[in-house]
Amino acid sequence: MGQPAGREGRRDVTNVEAAAGRDGVERVSAAAEQLGFTSKADVLAKSQEFWNPGKTQFWVGTGVDLVIDRREGYFIYDMSGKRLVDVHLNGGTYNLGHRNAEVVRAVTAAMQHFDIGNHHFPSMARTALAEALVQTGPAGMSKVIYGSGGGEAIDIALKTARHTTQKRKIVSIVKAYHGHTGLAVATGDERFSELFLSDRPEEFGHVPFNDLDAMEAALRGRDVAAVIMETIPATYGFPLPDPGYLEGAKTLCERYDALYIADEVQTGLMRTGELWAVSKHGITPDILVSGKGISGGMYPIAAVLVSERCAGWLTEDGFGHISTFGGAELGCIAGLKSLEICTRPETRSMVHYISGFMGDGLREIQDTYPDWFVGVRQNGVVMGLEFDHPQGAMYVMRRLYEGGVWAIFSTLDPRVLQYKPGILLSAELCEELLMRTETAIGLARDDAARDGWRAGARTASPSAPAAVAAMPSAALPSAAMPVARQVPVRTGVRR
Ligand SMILES: Cc1ncc(COP(=O)(O)O)c(C=O)c1O
Repeated sequence: MGQPAGREGRRDVTNVEAAAGRDGVERVSAAAEQLGFTSKADVLAKSQEFWNPGKTQFWVGTGVDLVIDRREGYFIYDMSGKRLVDVHLNGGTYNLGHRNAEVVRAVTAAMQHFDIGNHHFPSMARTALAEALVQTGPAGMSKVIYGSGGGEAIDIALKTARHTTQKRKIVSIVKAYHGHTGLAVATGDERFSELFLSDRPEEFGHVPFNDLDAMEAALRGRDVAAVIMETIPATYGFPLPDPGYLEGAKTLCERYDALYIADEVQTGLMRTGELWAVSKHGITPDILVSGKGISGGMYPIAAVLVSERCAGWLTEDGFGHISTFGGAELGCIAGLKSLEICTRPETRSMVHYISGFMGDGLREIQDTYPDWFVGVRQNGVVMGLEFDHPQGAMYVMRRLYEGGVWAIFSTLDPRVLQYKPGILLSAELCEELLMRTETAIGLARDDAARDGWRAGARTASPSAPAAVAAMPSAALPSAAMPVARQVPVRTGVRR
């Protein structure tokens, strides 16, 4: 990478696509030029050298050599100019699309007046968003605490639960994913907690999903501060809670004096057709965590809504959690606009339309490939597509990528493709998406068959943790997409 261009040399970066010209010479976008990159290969090489070798190698080795350049609405463009429909959305960060015009306008206008703000003082932007969140949140929410990202917000939720109950233990599900910060990482898969010696089995218990007996056994000692639960566990491939499971877990929390923390980082903000998915279960959580989409994809922010019972530390010691960027004022402005868009009646209707249309379309595709495409897990536009192969979603992800759609496998169950359409997706784009998805699923089936997969020889659910964690990136030969580099790094990217 050369020196960044001087200010005078900078051009508008929004409308320029990178592409190889007629002469075969790669043209880079103004954004790339401004940062001093000469080609996509240049970015990948420097990324490996200076940023994250494991991640860079993983993607190149998997055949998804994406370097996102331009982005607009539900489209992202690789540096090569290739257009992709984004149904990954970074876990809902781009729920409202990339660079949503209304959010961009709100943040741009706010930049004329606000900056990050000073986290020690009362603030107009922080207070306005807190009030809006309390007013639109589940019943009983009374205060809002901010973080700069989801993991920090989860840490705040866990600290709050410990303060409220004066107990230390936290229960989460096996294959939970609540982020990678200090406390959050201990609630999740051992692959990530052990890496940094952050697993603490004596304080963080894990129970199988959809198993109320195990939950009761974990809570019976009355020594648990909180159960933390994603309303639909994203990184585990969106397995749906059995009817009554979440409600039963909440009842057990009440019986054994543990708090219920709803992690709505991926399921909130209208993605299930209700602002908060937990409301669909009639559950009033003690604490609710929002992140990702609340930023509008434009300025990082996360929020923790707490009940009056849990708000005690904010009075006892308001400086109990300090975070310079938590509740950054520009993030609050992005959050206010995002929340406003999500709560519009027409947005709710859109979600119901899109989820009906996409759900029907996917089930039709399933009818075409019933032996391969074995399940659609769906709640609104939260969707997991299940395949009859331990790494089925990897096959489909590659073919989708090749065919102009970006969707990601589930790190903790790569049979399942996370498929997350935006809540403002147009009818035409829904149709295009289904068409491309059908093609990719068929081609991926052929790829798997070439690699030895046989219909009917259904493989057991790979919920065995080690199978996934140890899987090298290159364990997925594909006739379709040449594996650029066979490097033994572990799978695993966040959405
Ligand atoms: C359900 C859930 N909770 C928490 C987090 C952590 O959020 P962040 O990556 O912003 O720290 C994530 C991130 O993927 C998530 O999916």
